[in-house]
Amino acid sequence: MDFTFQQYEESAQAIRARLGGFAPKVAMILGSGLGYLGDQVEGAVTVPYGEIPYFKSSTAPGHKGRLVFGTLEGQRVAVMQGRMHHYEGYSYEEVSYAVRVLRLLGCDTLIVTNAAGCVHTGWQAGDLMLITDHIKLFSQSPLRGENLPEFGVRFPDASKLYTPRLQELARQTAQEQGLTLREGVYFYCYGPQYETPAEVRAARILGGDAVGMSTAPEVVVAGHCGMEVLGITLLSNMAAGILDQPLSEREVLDAAEAAKEKFSGLIRACLRKM
Ligand code: HPA
Repeated sequence: MDFTFQQYEESAQAIRARLGGFAPKVAMILGSGLGYLGDQVEGAVTVPYGEIPYFKSSTAPGHKGRLVFGTLEGQRVAVMQGRMHHYEGYSYEEVSYAVRVLRLLGCDTLIVTNAAGCVHTGWQAGDLMLITDHIKLFSQSPLRGENLPEFGVRFPDASKLYTPRLQELARQTAQEQGLTLREGVYFYCYGPQYETPAEVRAARILGGDAVGMSTAPEVVVAGHCGMEVLGITLLSNMAAGILDQPLSEREVLDAAEAAKEKFSGLIRACLRKM
């Protein structure tokens, strides 16, 4: 289904009615087990996805399924506690729908976070990775179908989807905190099965450093409508086939829990400087 511009506007209007003039500037999408940053928002106004027209619910584990508006480190934020994934049965347009609505509400920056498998054999589970680019070759585009010129052009440039200025800001912030921040390419796989060891080897040969089931669709849409993007991945586990053990959702959520402090510390410090 192609959404119309009016539908995006209708969703934005339903949210505006709850915000009393508050206009968010920085949108944040918090991935698996990383949603707690949303609980730290000050003066929070919470809107469950189910109360917003055309929003889908978020069914993945560790995803609360609500928007939290307020301030964090002095920034006006709109935090998505939980995202929609293609593997939940949603089209790519549905997966990225909220990004356009947040753009209409006034957000010009998007911080995306996720948990992903570590493809790079020199790194470790628990490390954080700054996303410098992504590979999303083997799936449809969220921009497929009629272009909505209110958001952007038919053939958008994708050479700097992850904003260099924000990458530099994250790099410097990590350094100040004495935090090791890996840098690399997020290789999108639509799941929900974890990758096979052969797929992980293929991702590595093609230039991927992390494999995950989210983020790339939303970032394509954010770039299309002119938003600046900062992406941080928690490498929650070594990708399939690197260690001789099966992958599990438990491992991913435990890693997110363990990385809580350093992850939220980095994001909060970045927000302060934006
Ligand atoms: N693969 C894909 N998605 C993931 C992984 C993984 O290994 N870990 C967390 N999300």
